[in-house]
Amino acid sequence: MSDPKKPLIFELVGKCTTTKARVGKMILPHGPVDTPVFMPVGTQGTLKGMLPEQLKSMGLQIMLANTYHLGTRPGIDVLRKAGGLHKFMNWDNNLLTDSGGFQMVSLLKLAEITEEGVKFQSLNEQKNEVMLTPEHSIEIQNTIGADIIMQLDDVVKTTIPDKARIEESVHRTTRWLDRCIKVHKNPQTQNIFPIVQGTLYEDLRRKSIADHVQRGVNGFAIGGLSGGESKDDFWKIVHLCTDLLPNNKPIYLMGVGFAEDLVVCCALGVDMFDCVFPTRTARFGCALLMTGQINLKKNTYANDMNPIDKDCSCNTCKKYTRAYLHGIVTDLPVACHLLTEHNVAFQLRLMRTIRENILNGTFVEFVQNFMSKIYPDKN
Ligand code: GUN
Ligand code: ZN
Repeated sequence: MSDPKKPLIFELVGKCTTTKARVGKMILPHGPVDTPVFMPVGTQGTLKGMLPEQLKSMGLQIMLANTYHLGTRPGIDVLRKAGGLHKFMNWDNNLLTDSGGFQMVSLLKLAEITEEGVKFQSLNEQKNEVMLTPEHSIEIQNTIGADIIMQLDDVVKTTIPDKARIEESVHRTTRWLDRCIKVHKNPQTQNIFPIVQGTLYEDLRRKSIADHVQRGVNGFAIGGLSGGESKDDFWKIVHLCTDLLPNNKPIYLMGVGFAEDLVVCCALGVDMFDCVFPTRTARFGCALLMTGQINLKKNTYANDMNPIDKDCSCNTCKKYTRAYLHGIVTDLPVACHLLTEHNVAFQLRLMRTIRENILNGTFVEFVQNFMSKIYPDKN
């Protein structure tokens, strides 16, 4: 179905007439992706607790993996020998890899950023210092072979006050984009996305976008958000970016996955999202519902013979009660599997519902109804 000359085709199939929400079909080398899409994160080449065939049968069309983690273990030589990550992990739908630097900066807090790249203490046993450069990130991502790969970017926290440092990060991110594009070996099969930076400064976001749109890429990411800023500030910047980015290419908002943010940012015209939240929270016993989330560790569920969600058609909700899940929630492997399956199914259903409502012309009513369920006392 994919065009060998074009690794990404993006067609808009419907638009909300009130908001900027849109439905699209993106064709990537490993099949179609219906947008807006939420992409769960399988950092090490596995979505913890789930088999690829289970994810496929649930209708998952694309998932994330992480460059730096995979570059460390199994490492670039093993990935090359395996013929790339799709084959290695037995996943023949689409993959997207993040470039690695963001995880180091946000996880380790020890990372040092210079013009050359991101320097940090390695996660391997030797704990030696390593430098992740734009060139090295792309070399690993070319070996992994994901359908969408991300440029290495210079990420700063949204809440830092130093505008000069933020401005530097915007310019450096564009310089790193050019270094990434220059060494990217597989532009016919792997789409490289630039990442718009600039934290909460509108002028810097404008500059970042003006520079990136000149690069002839197939899609764009908005980075540097969801890092402790207010919802108002966050949504304002997303709104500005989706206004300025070309509307015939997919727009990916990085690190966003709370149901409320997905609904609002779809209304603002975002097409792709990822976040560790739904799968990570499952491992802590939390199940997602349209009305918020419940923690099955709580004693309130000890005698509750209902499924997590009677409207959910996932295997967990069809076969198990809250009481059963409460009883096994500390048995990590089984509980992790059952809750992860439900939370992934929840995100898929939410996005499908959003797409259906946009196509049916009922998106505005859907948003009102959704908000009144999570904020029942605000009516
Ligand atoms: N994930 C969430 N936010 C970001 C970001 O700004 N850059 C990258 N590379 N990944 C992210
Ligand atoms: Zn379920």
